[in-house]
Amino acid sequence: LANGVARVPPMGWNSWNSFGCNINETLIRQMADAIVASGMRDLGYQYVVVDDCWFNPNRDSAGNLQGDPTRFPSGMRALGDYLHARGLKFGLYQVPVDRTCAQYFGVYPGATGSQGHEAQDARQFAAWGVDYLKYDWCSPNGTIQDQVATFARMRDALAATGRPIVYSINPNSIHAKTGPQRNWGDVANLWRTTEDITNAWDTGQANGYPMGIQNIVNVTVPLADYAGPGGFNDPDMLEVGRGGMSDTEMRSHFALWAMLAAPLIAGNDVRSMTSATQAILKNQDLIAINQDPLALQARQVSGDSSRRVLAKRLANGDVAVALFNQSGATTTIATSAAAIGKTGSSFTLRDAWTGATTSTTGAVTATVPAHGTAVYRVSGGGTAPPASTGTLVSAASGR
Ligand code: DGJ
Repeated sequence: LANGVARVPPMGWNSWNSFGCNINETLIRQMADAIVASGMRDLGYQYVVVDDCWFNPNRDSAGNLQGDPTRFPSGMRALGDYLHARGLKFGLYQVPVDRTCAQYFGVYPGATGSQGHEAQDARQFAAWGVDYLKYDWCSPNGTIQDQVATFARMRDALAATGRPIVYSINPNSIHAKTGPQRNWGDVANLWRTTEDITNAWDTGQANGYPMGIQNIVNVTVPLADYAGPGGFNDPDMLEVGRGGMSDTEMRSHFALWAMLAAPLIAGNDVRSMTSATQAILKNQDLIAINQDPLALQARQVSGDSSRRVLAKRLANGDVAVALFNQSGATTTIATSAAAIGKTGSSFTLRDAWTGATTSTTGAVTATVPAHGTAVYRVSGGGTAPPASTGTLVSAASGR
């Protein structure tokens, strides 16, 4: 979406994965403080997104949305001010339809959807200082045409406010089926590619609810053509630091989200992170690959059902390559500089996990543990034009 924001994938934090409906302004402020104190803000994690359950289930007498008076007694504007004063940005959740997911499932009372209130609600968000709207379909009803029309109405309402607001949509119906049914690049900055992520490597769900890390990767890798500046596939928020996975699996999760040009939205409790979690979320090599200004999603160069080689072309001519071992045993995975779109005969490989550099005349190989991902930034030589290699294509234009 050409609305001037999200020219690279947004980074931040969201309340849902760790806290669900158990949110309030004290928690969000503590999280914001921890994002600053941990150094995450300075590495790019700037959007603090308050997910479902922030609202008063009743609009005011003028039909305006209101924050929950018990959970957010200072009001939503004050929360936005708190975040802005710390160099952070303010994200909020809303739905187009009658009820949010928490309301639909009876976890939260009332009905607050923006359908028919789009202009008023968008102005309210802008007045509160909102910089990021997560707009979640969350209804069993509606055709794809309904979704396109409905999501586009909020897109236009946000644009009419004149405030730059990242527009993140979840067009999935209610956990019945998943996978994007169209390229949403004309409607939103971010669009979910699957049902909800969970903190597990593999839920056995090929395409259902909830989704493990490798299931989501399988769905999202083929969508590379959709991604480019202003519009990104959204494989959901990070589960790094939430348990449920080994450190190897958590490293793979983060490395793959970086390669897939996914929004890097942490979902853990950043007030209490282990050093292993911090080392993953604050890996500057991977953040640089994710935030590269070309904003391309990695494309699969080769692979089979147990191994994937993914390559992401970068703005300075380097190419990032990920060697992803989906099998249950340590495996050697190999590709070449030529296969990932480099020309020449002398290259440097920088290991994104260790920072170590090695020289190669073309071979790019790693012994990768089960569920692990090796990532190298390949520099030197030239970079073949994408069209002539057949392995890398430039971003779709117009977003
Ligand atoms: C469904 C979304 O996929 C989740 O990320 C979260 O926003 C919940 N809805 C909130 O109810």
